Amino acid sequence: MIQQEIRLERPERFEGKYEIAGEKLDRAIERALDKLEKNIPAWTDQFARTHPIDHRYVPGPNNNWECGMQTGTYWLAYELSGNPKFRQVAEAHLPSYRERFEQKIRIGGHDVGFVYTPSCVAAYKITGDEEIRKMTLDVAEFFYNNAYLKERGFVMRSGNKAVTDEKKGCRTMMDTLMNVPLLFWAGQETGDEKFTEAGLAQSKTTQKYLIREDASSFHHYQFEPYTWKPMRGRTLQGNSDDSCWSRGHSWGVYGFPIAYSYTKAEFLPELHKNITYFMLNHLPEDLIPYWDYDFIDGDEPRDSSAGVIAVCGMNEMCKYLPDSAPQKAIFKTASAKMLEAVIDHCAGDIGVEHDGLIGHVTHAKPQGQGIDQCGIYGDYFYLEALMRFTNPDWNRYW
Ligand code: GLY
Repeated sequence: MIQQEIRLERPERFEGKYEIAGEKLDRAIERALDKLEKNIPAWTDQFARTHPIDHRYVPGPNNNWECGMQTGTYWLAYELSGNPKFRQVAEAHLPSYRERFEQKIRIGGHDVGFVYTPSCVAAYKITGDEEIRKMTLDVAEFFYNNAYLKERGFVMRSGNKAVTDEKKGCRTMMDTLMNVPLLFWAGQETGDEKFTEAGLAQSKTTQKYLIREDASSFHHYQFEPYTWKPMRGRTLQGNSDDSCWSRGHSWGVYGFPIAYSYTKAEFLPELHKNITYFMLNHLPEDLIPYWDYDFIDGDEPRDSSAGVIAVCGMNEMCKYLPDSAPQKAIFKTASAKMLEAVIDHCAGDIGVEHDGLIGHVTHAKPQGQGIDQCGIYGDYFYLEALMRFTNPDWNRYW
């Protein structure tokens, strides 16, 4: 838990008004949509696996956490362009989400929100389809019953409450902050406060156990099997148990503002400012995060997805901050510069052919997966960031 306010180091990097040229944003969107349209035949009835091999997405069924973001990318493309071809792809994906829920295919854990929010909540928000709304509310109910430990105030990594495997059932993690928006949405739709309480409890537990004194974050926090006694911070995708995995941290930079939008809980803006300043203090000169904030220069791989997720989070928080909040102007400039860095250095020609909208994404370095490649979630949040910068009134999916 943070003990004192985090100071922004080298504030001159993020002071002053900064805007990305409109033409650059338009060109970036055009390039992304072109690539997505060309790849439509490959992805209408199958999904890309979490990480590519040799920069190429590997097809598979709808059975993993990132599938929702692939469908969400097509919803974003449809909303950005009005091109019905993109909507057709997203709609073609939808029956597989119903099937996945009916058959309970890999939705036992906290990843349910990643799967169903950018795909099915988005579908309802865009089309108003009542059947999708009902099915997605059933998913949220299942998620709540299966994965949320009410008496402990957190969502388990594995949703089966009988699982006491220390890596699964007894951990909660930063990523969960971007899964509980499904619960917040269900609370808003149904008026049932249990969903909102669960989402807020996740933020409080994260603040207490996963955010360290210096505003960095553990990736996971482990509790003792059966007693649920707090034990210690751990990692899975980061450099070490004591390091700060950059994408995990970004799930907080975006997750806390979403929690704030639904709850207006007073502790969230300060917490968010501190963790975001930690991130800004650990960015290299070119503003594209390394895969872990142990690294601030040198040859370690980058994770551009951590950058674009954080861009969306800062942009979201600015909607609620008064102009008098000192971080607001900083977030505006930092998010613009960080998005521009990804447009300039990770989209377009990066010296290697790849299937993504952006390169320089690192999925899981310790596991040797998807290192300096592309990634479905990188594509999704890149397009969402471009949407946010060109359509400030966009109705977010989360
Ligand atoms: N499992 C979520 C992530 O890789 O960010």
